[in-house]
Amino acid sequence: MTTSPAPELRRRFDEEGGKAPYVRNMFGRIARVYDGMNRLMTGGLDRRWRAFAVRQLALGADAHGLDVGTGTADLAIAAIRAAGPRTRMIGVDFTPEMLDYGRKKVSKLGLADRVELRVGDGEHLEFADNTFDGVCSAFVVRNLADLPAGLREQFRVLKPGGRMVCLEITHPPGPIFSGIFHLYFDQLVPLMGKIVGKSFDSYNYLHQSLAMFPPAPRLKQLMREAGFTDVRYYYRTFGVVAVHVGQKPVS
Ligand SMILES: C[S@@+](CC[C@H](N)C(=O)[O-])C[C@H]1O[C@@H](n2cnc3c(N)ncnc32)[C@H](O)[C@@H]1O
Repeated sequence: MTTSPAPELRRRFDEEGGKAPYVRNMFGRIARVYDGMNRLMTGGLDRRWRAFAVRQLALGADAHGLDVGTGTADLAIAAIRAAGPRTRMIGVDFTPEMLDYGRKKVSKLGLADRVELRVGDGEHLEFADNTFDGVCSAFVVRNLADLPAGLREQFRVLKPGGRMVCLEITHPPGPIFSGIFHLYFDQLVPLMGKIVGKSFDSYNYLHQSLAMFPPAPRLKQLMREAGFTDVRYYYRTFGVVAVHVGQKPVS
């Protein structure tokens, strides 16, 4: 694992003005196929992983939650469905095209009064300190240009005693499954992206972004450094993804 991008990826970031604009443009291009590709790549497991994450979030009946990098709103919707009828979620994302698909889905499900989707930057959240009862994200923190800054922002807007839950692709522990995973993720997923989404580069970025993303124990450490306590993580599906959970201390 290295924290700096491979030269080829660095060149592409530079061409588009940095990692954040590169990521935003990429999700703008693939928004149309994003949900379908998720189902295809994971065989539908992405839904189960989100369901596990929202169980960890455990929002209460009147809670107000934030989904950072909400994209097409799948995690925000899962969180609302798992919580009581008065729970509300705000989803923030810096790619308007992803939010457009999310808004259509939210209104089709009759959840528009409970899930609000806003354009915003996860590294500079527009909310006051101590606003939300719970903060969550799925497949987002790997994309942040400044991961520690993003974690500090999630900590800042969380109420004391509230939980932060982060679902993300990770480095599977153990050599055997790790080998199979990398064969699939590094070779086959970009091909699927090319065939289904007509975008080899975007789905090639997936494994490139994982290469520079910290393993689960290091992410746990970074969450602690951002201020979270009681930080723990759960590997799912042989460690393909990890769900990190942390708490904002009460005082
Ligand atoms: C892989 S998608 C995940 C979408 C959704 N959370 C899900 O579970 O499917 C990553 C999303 O994070 C968003 N994103 C990445 N960096 C961001 C940032 N700094 N601020 C806001 N959104 C960001 C992208 O626009 C994209 O929609």
